[in-house]
Amino acid sequence: MKREINAFDYAGDICKALPKGILLTTKRGDEVNTMTIGWGHIGIEWGRPIFVAYIRDSRHTREMLDETNEFTVNIPYGNVDNHILGYCGTKSGKDVNKIQDLGLTLVDSDHISVPGIKELPITIECKVIYKLKQEVSAIPEGIQSRYYPVDAQGNQDFHYAYYGEIVGAYMIEE
Ligand SMILES: Cc1cc2nc3c(=O)[nH]c(=O)nc-3n(C[C@H](O)[C@H](O)[C@H](O)COP(=O)(O)O)c2cc1C
Repeated sequence: MKREINAFDYAGDICKALPKGILLTTKRGDEVNTMTIGWGHIGIEWGRPIFVAYIRDSRHTREMLDETNEFTVNIPYGNVDNHILGYCGTKSGKDVNKIQDLGLTLVDSDHISVPGIKELPITIECKVIYKLKQEVSAIPEGIQSRYYPVDAQGNQDFHYAYYGEIVGAYMIEE
């Protein structure tokens, strides 16, 4: 069962959960993929409610988002199995089906095609309205070297900021 909520009523829960991780889910055709994110924020821009997520270029999620422009965010409420966040934060949808492997329960959303995940019951439905590649030269040097070292191929795996307009939110209940 779903209960409609105002996402801003749960802003504190979202910000407190982020350091340990929350889930960002995408759907392309029949493929549903979820990943752990630890960076993000909720607020207002252009007079609209927005959730911003930071996704590195190399993520399977980034590829799916660029095609579909929709995502859900799922936040733990009460007890959560930390194995879920660990698995979804280390395995890629390029290699495995995380939803199947963990036996996660998908729940249809109301406004977008991407489902929510019952095991982390606070669900926010977002449509991407803006995407921004980070301007690395504007980032302090210490942060650049820590987060964006140059790999053997000369890549730095930058983050893209995805601005999702919040078009719905619900709590998944028994
Ligand atoms: C606690 C935690 C937080 C993470 N936060 C982010 C994040 O904010 N952005 C990001 O791009 N990757 C983040 N990751 C790494 C991704 O979750 C990980 O690379 C994942 O396998 C990507 O899945 P995908 O390839 O299916 O998209 C985080 C991992 C953990 C464990």
